[in-house]
Amino acid sequence: MTDVNAELVSELVASGLDRREARWLVEEFVPGGDPEAAPAVRAAATRRLSGEPLQYVLGHWPFRSLDLDVDERALIPRPETEGLVDVALKELATRDVAAPLMVDLGCGSGAIGLSLLDELRQRGVTGTLVAVDESRDALALARRNALKHHLHAVSFVQSSWFESLDGSLRSRVDLIVANPPYVSEDEFDVLDPVLRYEPVGALVSPDAHGVPGFDDVATVIRDAPSWLAQGGVLVLEHSHSHRDPALAAALGAGFAHVEDLEDLAGQPRVLVARR
Ligand SMILES: C[S@@+](CC[C@H](N)C(=O)[O-])C[C@H]1O[C@@H](n2cnc3c(N)ncnc32)[C@H](O)[C@@H]1O
Repeated sequence: MTDVNAELVSELVASGLDRREARWLVEEFVPGGDPEAAPAVRAAATRRLSGEPLQYVLGHWPFRSLDLDVDERALIPRPETEGLVDVALKELATRDVAAPLMVDLGCGSGAIGLSLLDELRQRGVTGTLVAVDESRDALALARRNALKHHLHAVSFVQSSWFESLDGSLRSRVDLIVANPPYVSEDEFDVLDPVLRYEPVGALVSPDAHGVPGFDDVATVIRDAPSWLAQGGVLVLEHSHSHRDPALAAALGAGFAHVEDLEDLAGQPRVLVARR
């Protein structure tokens, strides 16, 4: 680190920033120690000190094999969602589909679907992805991330879940992945205020069937079977309190085989439902 940058780190720490974050910001905004870049890092520190998530201030964040652009248009990809990608890859490997057709519902930054495409590519498999979100802003960010990583076999569809999907996809999809909003309004009110920087539509879902925050999860589970090919699979992230209602909804929707997996913290997190 140059002398200029070391001085900037000390200045940011003195203004109240954590030392590790101060180093990150300085390395991001003043990589070569250019004194003219100092105002940019000071502006970034001000955003961070006012409570904005570090990921948004940096403007990019790693998710599995990808460095994703992230900003207030979409949810910051969470580490626990990385496990969902492992589950999905395992399901595809078990089915041994040569060129899987995949749908990422509520794609946000594109974290799940683009990781799948990228990691399949690393294995020599060419997948095709339909990335769906009701948020035009999120789709624009996902599109930028696809271009950034040279992932071209993607179409982007603005839709409320399956509503505006091309009907020709019915009964043809090998894998549906989804991380729908699953925080109830009551829970949202008491969560970490830093979440208020993220789009509320990415986090909060109405209650359904007497279950807080379950409406979007329930909709995806209910409608998924008619889009899946025989043997196709839905891999869906849900709240730790949704395990039993999610399993019941999947059985009620007619899935042939359902199970629910825990995340690394041992919390119920991922529904796997095979048609
Ligand atoms: C929890 S975020 C997940 C984002 C991303 N898949 C991830 O894991 O980082 C939920 C996403 O669902 C989208 N969404 C919310 N309601 C939707 C709906 N009715 N139809 C489609 N997408 C929706 C939000 O815009 C948001 O991008």
